[in-house]
Amino acid sequence: MSERLGMPLSRFILEEQRKHPGARGEFSIIMEQLATASQVVRGHVRKAGLVDILGFTGKLNVFGERVRRLDEFSNHVFMEAIKTSGRFCAMASEEMKEAVLISNGGEYVITFDPLDGSSNIDINISIGTIFSIFKRTSSGEMATMDDLLQPGNKQIAAGYIIYGSSTMFVYTTGHGVYGFTFDPAVGTYLLSHEPIKIPEKGKIYSVNEGNYKHWIENGIKKYIDWLKEKDEETKRPYSMRYIGCMVADIHRTLLKGGIFMYPADKKNPNGKLRLLYEANPMGFIIEQAGGIASTGRERILDIVPETLHQRVPVIMGSPYDVKKAIEFIEQYS
Ligand code: AHG
Ligand code: MN
Ligand code: MN
Ligand code: MN
Repeated sequence: MSERLGMPLSRFILEEQRKHPGARGEFSIIMEQLATASQVVRGHVRKAGLVDILGFTGKLNVFGERVRRLDEFSNHVFMEAIKTSGRFCAMASEEMKEAVLISNGGEYVITFDPLDGSSNIDINISIGTIFSIFKRTSSGEMATMDDLLQPGNKQIAAGYIIYGSSTMFVYTTGHGVYGFTFDPAVGTYLLSHEPIKIPEKGKIYSVNEGNYKHWIENGIKKYIDWLKEKDEETKRPYSMRYIGCMVADIHRTLLKGGIFMYPADKKNPNGKLRLLYEANPMGFIIEQAGGIASTGRERILDIVPETLHQRVPVIMGSPYDVKKAIEFIEQYS
């Protein structure tokens, strides 16, 4: 067992910074602000049903989704933390139509999904938060949209928080994936998973199969049919698990292996998940854990975004499983 297990997140970040001298000191401030914000959200989530946070605000977001109170609350808490850190000059969120660009000398930009899996809030099932951090590329006084529209392969850090049976903070800075579990007795995150390596192959697939008839790629249908056939050698049929919260579905996929997908369908011709807030950060984490993140046709992290809120088909998980899905797509398209 590693002697680092149980180490507080803040100390871990400082040690990692010393090991990878490229990283700047201010990075620990950023991570600590995000971790603190997540603890505020966690506190609220834990009281769901007791305090007035369930239900809808009555507004629609830019995606036409009904905004829930916790979506709005979490967006507010993370925005305050991001601004307070003083390190960010540009930020974009699933819950904000427009990006926020400021001239504060901040060298970083951030995109985030403040509350992922929000349809699970009211029914006591896992939800999450996802973030993606880039270095600013422009040099004028004010940040620009191009600072936010960088491909995922330029991310310098990405992470998620899962508010589940315990709360975990999982992140990468491009040197592996580390997981920290919140200890309510100590009031902080402690290193519990290091480094996370995704199994080469899994036994679980995760997809909203209710959309089966409406999937655009015939290869995806054929692949799912194939997963259900019996075969000793490849351990088929696979089991199906779908939580409807990308953070929770990816968290399981990271630890247990297998494949997670949100393919294109007739209603969502580019898939449902958002490149900047969901696919890129989760893709970076999956790759850092040794997995593959693809649209079925290309590497997610190589896509150059055109708009803030663009969507993208997602296939990610264990190398064996994602390669197999891509083989089917190539064969049947
Ligand atoms: P969000 O709650 O941030 O809008 O994201 C929901 C996303 C994602 O978490 C999940 O994988 C997917 O939507 C579920 O969609 P379906 O209900 O269509 O399966
Ligand atoms: Mn949403
Ligand atoms: Mn989401
Ligand atoms: Mn969300």
